[in-house]
Amino acid sequence: MNRALMCNPRYYTVDYEINPWMHVREKPDTRLAAVQWKRLYETLIDLGIEVELIEPVKGLPDMVFTANGGLIHDGNFILSNFRFKERQGEAAHFETWAERDGFEVFRLPENSIFEGEGDMLALPSSRPGKTGRLVAGYRFRSDIGSHNLVSGILGLEVVSVELTSKHFYHLDTCFCPLTEDIAIYYPGAFDEYGLKVLSSTFKNLLPLEERDARHFCANAVVRGKDIIMNRCGEALRKQLNALGFILHELDLSEFIKSGGSAKCLVLKLD
Ligand code: ARG
Repeated sequence: MNRALMCNPRYYTVDYEINPWMHVREKPDTRLAAVQWKRLYETLIDLGIEVELIEPVKGLPDMVFTANGGLIHDGNFILSNFRFKERQGEAAHFETWAERDGFEVFRLPENSIFEGEGDMLALPSSRPGKTGRLVAGYRFRSDIGSHNLVSGILGLEVVSVELTSKHFYHLDTCFCPLTEDIAIYYPGAFDEYGLKVLSSTFKNLLPLEERDARHFCANAVVRGKDIIMNRCGEALRKQLNALGFILHELDLSEFIKSGGSAKCLVLKLD
């Protein structure tokens, strides 16, 4: 990843509850959220990532989670169709931004729910210039039917897995590929079939303990050997270091109050 999209948390708050982490009575501290967001932004810049910003919109507090605005691959932008009306207003803003930025924008049929990079990840490939395939989650947010549509548009094979735990409602809350062969995942968020699919797709699957999963350790931004995530447990840190990864741990507590962390706050542009 060399370019990414973020959205300033100026209007970020928890005003509605659309996942089990959100409680309107436990508002995030907006000042602290701004500090945490800025640290994430600066960490990406320090790693050499060019960060674009989309203008935040009053009344759309979750727009800060840019990973849900769509999915980008090879200059194509597949616009999200959000499941909940609370977030549906975001789509028009992501669409305008993508058009201005020169992406070819694809819209799915209205009844095909799809939440972008939150539920669909392109697997890194060792073949130069080629993305191997897509791994996609469905049930709580994206519909399985959207997987085939996106796979058809992008001309990439898709591997679909069902998500089984309400707390891990987007694929990027419980699964994170680190390389073509290595991925971290939370076993408690998949059924037996999903686990089988993941283990036949990755040579080295690192299971997260429930505690790390609840700290959103799977919701990590990965760039080469660098991994940015919310604070993680000692065992996971050691495991990742032993594999040669460099961990950048940031406290993202205020965003976890909305059910998101590092990865949700960043949309990959290439
Ligand atoms: N409050 C947001 C929602 O429920 C959080 C989104 C987090 N994004 C993600 N990619 N997991 O939609």
